[in-house]
Amino acid sequence: MKSIAIFYASTSGHTKTLAQTISDKLDGSKIYDINITGPEYINDYTNIIFGISDQEDLSMQEHWNEIWNDFLQIDFREKNVAIFGLGNQKNSKNNFVDSMYPLYKHLEESKANILGFTSTDKYDFIDSKACINGQFVGLAIDVEDKDHLNEIRINNWVEDLKKVFD
Ligand SMILES: Cc1cc2nc3c(=O)[nH]c(=O)nc-3n(C[C@H](O)[C@H](O)[C@H](O)COP(=O)(O)O)c2cc1C
Repeated sequence: MKSIAIFYASTSGHTKTLAQTISDKLDGSKIYDINITGPEYINDYTNIIFGISDQEDLSMQEHWNEIWNDFLQIDFREKNVAIFGLGNQKNSKNNFVDSMYPLYKHLEESKANILGFTSTDKYDFIDSKACINGQFVGLAIDVEDKDHLNEIRINNWVEDLKKVFD
């Protein structure tokens, strides 16, 4: 069985719910709330998904912030890594899901095999740090928008990851 783990943090519970949804679609995957476990088990996995939410302009979700210095010490070479980020397009048009970007940046610098870039089609926002070359650096989800596309986006994203996770 493929060894897959999801590491997330969540302030009001939305990221937690999505982490569970994704885990349910990936047979045998483990799920860790980094507010409880910290970054301790990340190194044990080759196939990794990170979940984060935006909580303030230009700063990251509080539990991610707490482990950030330890996270930066982790070497992601030869690991397959994907990110999902939760945000709000309506209230945060100019910084939608920005917090995926610092995760992406470290993963890139530490030579991870980054998976799961997604199209910005049919989203309604003006700017996002998480957009590189016209694509999101991970799966962007706005649960507050009640967007009927969320379920399709999640399913497509997970199916794509399944093909590459080893
Ligand atoms: C104080 C606060 C600031 C927020 N700032 C942003 C933001 O800058 N960009 C964005 O896309 N969403 C922003 N959001 C929306 C949250 O990211 C969104 O509600 C998300 O679903 C929360 O997930 P969580 O409950 O797992 O933390 C903000 C929400 C709050 C409460």
